[in-house]
Amino acid sequence: MTPSTLHPLLASRFSPRAFSDAAVGIEDQRALMEAARWASSCFNEQPWSFILGDRHQHPEDFARILDLLAPANQVWAAAAPLLVVTAAWRNFSRTGAENMHAWHDLGLAVGQLTVEASARGLVLHQMAGLDRLRAARTLGLPEGVEVATAIAIGHPGDPEQLPEALRSREKAPRVRKALSEIAFAGLFGQAL
Ligand SMILES: Cc1cc2nc3c(=O)[nH]c(=O)nc-3n(C[C@H](O)[C@H](O)[C@H](O)COP(=O)(O)O)c2cc1C
Repeated sequence: MTPSTLHPLLASRFSPRAFSDAAVGIEDQRALMEAARWASSCFNEQPWSFILGDRHQHPEDFARILDLLAPANQVWAAAAPLLVVTAAWRNFSRTGAENMHAWHDLGLAVGQLTVEASARGLVLHQMAGLDRLRAARTLGLPEGVEVATAIAIGHPGDPEQLPEALRSREKAPRVRKALSEIAFAGLFGQAL
């Protein structure tokens, strides 16, 4: 199956480094958070948290998050209009036991946010490259909440405005493992 056989919202998604200067309006921001909010989660724990930095409306919030990113990510993420740090409660609120599904649930919420973003003509790029411990301190996370990733969100930009190294990565074909490497019939390794 090639991406063209998928739903256009999924087929057209990619992780860009080029963003236009256009702001992500507050209604779009709220809609992305609602999309994440309505994801399913283990025991309906909803372990996710999101901290937003809007470059146009709250430049100091944006700068605080940008400063937490790895330098290689800062190069292009500085142009995004919206940065989001994602985090999760690592223990169940009812029992205190470790919630080993917290990262899974956060990822699912980000997946929903991603589809909502695509439907609104927005693009986003997730980043593991940030100082997670410094982010937790700087952003005032309470004990028990751990930072996972950052996300740059905005409108598609012109790849020609990127530095050459990033421009060629932006235009490189997207690659994936073959379906036969990830999906099996009945037993691991058995062809579908
Ligand atoms: C959890 C996560 C962390 C990532 N971290 C980074 C990162 O720090 N820097 C970066 O440039 N891309 C990062 N990416 C983007 C991936 O490299 C990208 O999703 C992957 O190459 C597939 O490309 P596509 O999203 O365009 O299909 C990350 C993606 C995810 C989901």
